[in-house]
Amino acid sequence: MSSSASTPPLAPLHMIDLIRKKRDGGSLDAREIGFLVSGAANESIPNDQLAAWLMAAWLRGLSLDEARTLTLAMRDSGDKFSPARLGKTAVDKHSTGGVGDKTSFLIAPLAAACGVAVPMISGRSLGHTGGTLDKLESIPGFRTALSLKEFEAVLMKCGASIISQTQSLVPADRVLYALRDRTGTVESPGLICASILSKKLAAGLDALVLDVKTGSGAFLRKPEDSAYLAALMVATAEAAGTRTVALLTDMSQPLGHSAGNWIEVAESVELLRGQRPSQSEDLRELSLILAGWMIHLGGQVATPESGYSRAEKALADGSALRAFFAMIEAQGGNTKVFSDPNFHSPGAIKVVPAWESGYISTMDTTALGWAVQRTGAGRENAGEPVDPHAGIDFHARLGARLEKGQPLATLYATNPALLAEPEALLKQAIHFSKTPPQKVPLVSRIFNRESAEAYLKDSR
Ligand code: URA
Repeated sequence: MSSSASTPPLAPLHMIDLIRKKRDGGSLDAREIGFLVSGAANESIPNDQLAAWLMAAWLRGLSLDEARTLTLAMRDSGDKFSPARLGKTAVDKHSTGGVGDKTSFLIAPLAAACGVAVPMISGRSLGHTGGTLDKLESIPGFRTALSLKEFEAVLMKCGASIISQTQSLVPADRVLYALRDRTGTVESPGLICASILSKKLAAGLDALVLDVKTGSGAFLRKPEDSAYLAALMVATAEAAGTRTVALLTDMSQPLGHSAGNWIEVAESVELLRGQRPSQSEDLRELSLILAGWMIHLGGQVATPESGYSRAEKALADGSALRAFFAMIEAQGGNTKVFSDPNFHSPGAIKVVPAWESGYISTMDTTALGWAVQRTGAGRENAGEPVDPHAGIDFHARLGARLEKGQPLATLYATNPALLAEPEALLKQAIHFSKTPPQKVPLVSRIFNRESAEAYLKDSR
């Protein structure tokens, strides 16, 4: 008898059953996940049902198998990019999202200047965090929606390119990402893993460096939750054939001095030009560490430490700045604005002074992220425009001693009416003490395949 005669036909799947299964704590199998992902990608499953499933997944969590299957199904939901013709090792980094997290603008040109290809597919602002694409689009003319052919051409010419997902690249994540942003379902390890890795694996990378944030501004604030996410992503990406490391990095305060759109790109260019404002030291250091790993995994040097030194050299000799400007121009952006002191033109500006004397002891960085979004730098709903010039410049970092009345932050908003809410949020989010707080390490832990698998085994 032929096998088709003996195998009973599979029962058709219905989204309502998948929602109820997850709601009741069950695990979806590969066929069910495939159904959900293709229905999200081709928009045959309505948003209300996808949103209900996302909430069930957020509440119940995803098993390791579910997270891995979801990641691969999302990766395969559309076109893929192959870096084979670039003739270089393709390495990228991805951050799980933070406030003022602009390392991509330093890392991509640093790694490119050191001989690594950096095909970066990035996202827009999500929840309280800013989006790399929104920041880049504050440069007049800069195009993030390139075709894969254009992406390849920029990579060939400049070594780095940063683009958005496009309709055809990981369409399932485009739909689910926007829904998660609007339904309070962002902070889930399995969903974050699938969202980030589907995009990274679709870019055909040889290696990947993950910057997993921990602390008050991270999606997963507790170190043990961030460590689980890091281990889950490393093990998932390695199982899919991509050499991956994850660094657990501090997000208990904004990274660098600015958080917004244009002001973050401008701060990055300040560093690429060799300036070293003290408020940007953590940004500079983290960017060099991450770029060092990329240069190492890209096969250019034997250790991440030598990668760091190579990156430092590329910063000092201006080759990273040239690589960044070449990429901006190849994607249609106007680099003249970086020399125009009048370009930064927010609709309203307000300096917020310290409301008491003392050391800055803690920051609720998630609340600061919402403050930044509410200046006009972020959006309430997918597709809405953002203000390129809105955001917040922070003049003091954790541990700094301020006297009452000294400038603490400058708000840039679309219009004066948008200043009040961010200011109120800022006042709730920043706390002072009589003694300095303990210093938190910038990088607290590093996972590779072995340590990630051991961690997941222990946490079962
Ligand atoms: N970045 C992503 O691309 N997806 C997430 O879920 C979180 C951060």
